[in-house]
Amino acid sequence: MSFQKKLTTPAAPFIHSIALQSGELDRKSFWEFADEAKEATEALADEKMKVLPHLPVDALQRFCTQYRFFTIDYISDLAVLVAKLPFGGLRSLLSQILAEELGEGHAHRAHPEIYDRFLASIGVERQQLERPLPANHVILGELTDELSRRSPAFGVGLRGMGGECLCQTYLSVMFEHLQEHPYMRDPSNGIDWEFWTIHAGEQDIIHGELTRQAIDDYIREEPAALPELAQGYERSITAWNLFWQNIFDACIERPAALS
Ligand SMILES: [Fe+2]
Repeated sequence: MSFQKKLTTPAAPFIHSIALQSGELDRKSFWEFADEAKEATEALADEKMKVLPHLPVDALQRFCTQYRFFTIDYISDLAVLVAKLPFGGLRSLLSQILAEELGEGHAHRAHPEIYDRFLASIGVERQQLERPLPANHVILGELTDELSRRSPAFGVGLRGMGGECLCQTYLSVMFEHLQEHPYMRDPSNGIDWEFWTIHAGEQDIIHGELTRQAIDDYIREEPAALPELAQGYERSITAWNLFWQNIFDACIERPAALS
């Protein structure tokens, strides 16, 4: 199977979509599905991100810039999800994560602001910050739209679980490979790593574990939500992999698309 083929037909979601359709999914098989998807995502991310240390600096700048649009939309989607959920542990936890994303009252501590300081430190100009890839702009808009229209459980899979768990996996792998780039390794460049120490370190691992526990409690309280939750997560995986593939295509294989 080619790399491109793997991206468009991730094995784990496909296998489990059979269970989703037949209504056989229970809590245990859902978490098996989630773990397999996370492992597959990690392997995929690692294979893709291996190229990062070898990129020209301008391609690396464009590549990193595109992730900022995910962080911005993730916050507003998370706010919608918090508004839709019933009172309980998951709603409270996601509201705490949302508060952290927003900087807990300090604009300069909001995560997109911290990420933009990283971008500035690697030489990204301000005017570059407003250029999302059109295809990814569409993807993010679709996720927001589906989050609004679909059930809270679908939203948990799409943004509560997909955003927090998959995001952490990709960021950890991205951070690992970014640090190998000669430009990033040169201390005289003064790279601002704060975003990465927050998102690829212990704090984000704890977030992931807390989120998983809160979602498990949510499923126990509302077992009927399981199929929708799994569908949302499956949708999230597809969208997330496509989001990154678009970035690779534009920044690495066809860099002129962003110039
Ligand atoms: Fe964040």
